[in-house]
Amino acid sequence: MGDDMKDMTSLGLKVEAGRLWILDQTRLPDEECWVEGGDPAAMVGHIQRLAVRGAPLIGVAAALSLACFAASGASESRLRSACAALRGARPTAVNLMAAMDRMKAALDAGASSQDLVREAEAIFEADVELCEAMASRGAALIGPGESALTHCNAGALATAGIGTALGVIRRAFELGRLRHVFVDETRPLLQGARLTAWELSRLGIPHTLITDSMAAILLREGRVQRVLVGADRVAANGDFANKVGTYGLAVQALHHGVPFHPVAPWTTVDLDCPDGASIPIEERRAEEVRGYGGRLWAPEACPVFNPSFDVTPASLVTSLVLDRAVLTGAQLRE
Ligand code: MRU
Repeated sequence: MGDDMKDMTSLGLKVEAGRLWILDQTRLPDEECWVEGGDPAAMVGHIQRLAVRGAPLIGVAAALSLACFAASGASESRLRSACAALRGARPTAVNLMAAMDRMKAALDAGASSQDLVREAEAIFEADVELCEAMASRGAALIGPGESALTHCNAGALATAGIGTALGVIRRAFELGRLRHVFVDETRPLLQGARLTAWELSRLGIPHTLITDSMAAILLREGRVQRVLVGADRVAANGDFANKVGTYGLAVQALHHGVPFHPVAPWTTVDLDCPDGASIPIEERRAEEVRGYGGRLWAPEACPVFNPSFDVTPASLVTSLVLDRAVLTGAQLRE
């Protein structure tokens, strides 16, 4: 088998005959367009333009891209600089750093290209298992007939497996507990409207799309029994970063007494980050707020604030669903 990578498939990424492909998420739901990701310089671009996105998946994709580069015969020094470039492609999701630190540690230990291929495959396979573990733990929290609300896309498109928050939703629906899902459209890049709604319709899970500003009404009217979201980095004190809008949702959920849960694998936990204030927050281009898809609806030079993520303090969390445990807000504060 040599350096050949195993064939592997997830909803947003696949390895076939040693070539890495990603489903270009910027084109969804209009087109399912696969682009090659085996060149690390191209992969950095795919990650930055969100063609491949979601905290766990960008780590998996970066590791597989580096492994393809190794299998193509790249020198150690080129592998090291590609590893550093991939690691720095986006700043907030710590899964990217964790995956690339794993690949760098293998390089430091004198890994062959075959070893790097095996390491990247292991990162993919571990993420699939982590999603299953989160889904089981999270689904057990959900009572019969509940409706949930989610933000952004924390589904199969964001991981190698069935997703984090959306994996919990999927499992709870399969178990006959969850009745309905409300989906925040998730401005500015519409991951909820474009990606989560697409995933839920493929899965046949009843759902309703709302704009982000409509969530408070549903919470006040008692039409949502639980809020489930993903995370890009969980700090040691339980504060966490996720797609911008998550913090506001957590404030609203607490105000209305609705349980609020981030769902994340241990690869999203950063114990070196003491609290939310230490999490680096990506700021993105002003055009993303002035309009969408090349169409402007604000004045061209309008000043813009565009943080891609916000930080939710642990004090607003009912419990954090990890693959290994469910930690209550009180346990997080201990
Ligand atoms: O900018 P994105 O689309 O990569 O942001 C993704 C999110 O914020 C997700 O909620 C998070 O990565 C969790 S994914 C399982």
